[in-house]
Amino acid sequence: MPTASRPPAPPVAPGRLPLIGHALALWRRPLEFLDSLTAFDPIVATHLGPKPSYVLTGPDLVHRVLVTEAANYAKGRSFDKLRPYLGNGLATSEGAFHLRQRRLVQPAFHHQQIAHYVDTMARLAAERADSWRPGQVVDVTRQMLELSLAIVTSTLFSTSLDASAAAEIRHAMPVVLHGMYTRVLDPTNLWHRLPTPGNRRLADAHDRLRRAIDHLIHADRADHADHADHASGRPDLLSMLLQARDADSGEAMTDRQLHDELITLLVAGTETAAGGLAWLFHELGRHPHLDRRLHQELHDHAVLPLTADQLPRLGHTRRVVDEALRMRNPGGITIRRATTDVELGGYRFREGTEFIFSALVLHRNPRHFPHPLRFDPDRWLPDRPPAPRGAFVPFGAGHHLCIGESFARTEMLTVAATVASRWRLTPAPGARVRGVMTSTNHPDNLLMTVEPRPEAD
Ligand code: HEM
Repeated sequence: MPTASRPPAPPVAPGRLPLIGHALALWRRPLEFLDSLTAFDPIVATHLGPKPSYVLTGPDLVHRVLVTEAANYAKGRSFDKLRPYLGNGLATSEGAFHLRQRRLVQPAFHHQQIAHYVDTMARLAAERADSWRPGQVVDVTRQMLELSLAIVTSTLFSTSLDASAAAEIRHAMPVVLHGMYTRVLDPTNLWHRLPTPGNRRLADAHDRLRRAIDHLIHADRADHADHADHASGRPDLLSMLLQARDADSGEAMTDRQLHDELITLLVAGTETAAGGLAWLFHELGRHPHLDRRLHQELHDHAVLPLTADQLPRLGHTRRVVDEALRMRNPGGITIRRATTDVELGGYRFREGTEFIFSALVLHRNPRHFPHPLRFDPDRWLPDRPPAPRGAFVPFGAGHHLCIGESFARTEMLTVAATVASRWRLTPAPGARVRGVMTSTNHPDNLLMTVEPRPEAD
């Protein structure tokens, strides 16, 4: 029952249309639509399908759903739509199976292991930056997408990645990412069955991606004697997953499960980090004083190529990363479904109700982040009051917390520092940047001019 002070149901987000509800708004101008929800606290109803879904705007409710009362929630219906692509990998599995897989995959993301990946990240970022010429105009989002795909594939498969498998993955991934998103948003659930050219392209790309990953697994299994990255002598991520054994049963992952985890890591780890980096360069381009500070910090504290032990010295660069993750959070929306009747924000909801939260909405709440649309890395200085629990959740929380958090932060820091040490990226004249929300939030038409750093910079 509703509490005495509350109406019987949460308010409904403005702009609801007959039959399609808010689906068009979320499709056409998702960032504006999500931004408009910050005004509602702590919960607001949206209509994206036959039943309402409730957007949680209060950090406390988000924390309850993801952490303290997580047992009452499962992943939402949209995850069922992802299963044909991601199988039963970490992002789509639940319960005891998810926990077992999480334990098997976790060692590949340990702090020490991430430190080994820094060399690869720095090398690939330097190669990319070295390919630019003074005065060249680059599409930064595209550059970051290619770079982050190269980083994920190289750290996952450093030993077995041959040029043709790499090319297959790099071509197929963007098509699969786009197709998955369209599939999730389709309220009819029919569109993907039609033999449209787009659906055929998706089926073909998915098939090629699957075959390339299977090829890599088999190549690595066959190569039992040599599980080390030839350059560094260290195991790559795939090798670690191949060697992982369940603590109770002693069993290894099957090829099928390995496949699902690898495709999940590729999908979850590519566009997100790329979007975060693209936004970061956009903000540095708009704030030359922050860019200068970053360059000064690199000049004072870093020797290129970057190594893991240098990263802790880059305090300002790290705060720029945090601020990009806050104000321009690249993640998509997160969905949970109640597995029992629940109470949230003084309202009662039936089992099966879906709840949504968007880090972007939470991160732009002026109650927790004064002047939320001001890009201000100094808000992360250690002497500033911390954001309340659940208010800053770029990587989620609870048992589905992003397993790649440390990887992604390290990647953003390493790439930002490596690129900024060589170049200053400034907005190209006349280019109108637009925020686009697909499965991730990233800038479109982010054209920037590559300028050499003046000596005295
Ligand atoms: C800035 C970059 C990134 C952001 C903003 C991000 C965000 C997130 C969020 C919010 C979740 C939780 C989803 C939920 O609760 O339903 C998540 C889960 C996940 N992420 Fe990330 N992520 C990023 C980078 C990465 C990277 C680089 C990888 C791997 C290389 C990765 C792999 C995963 C996986 C496997 C999951 C599922 C974890 C589980 O359910 O146990 N992510 N990510």
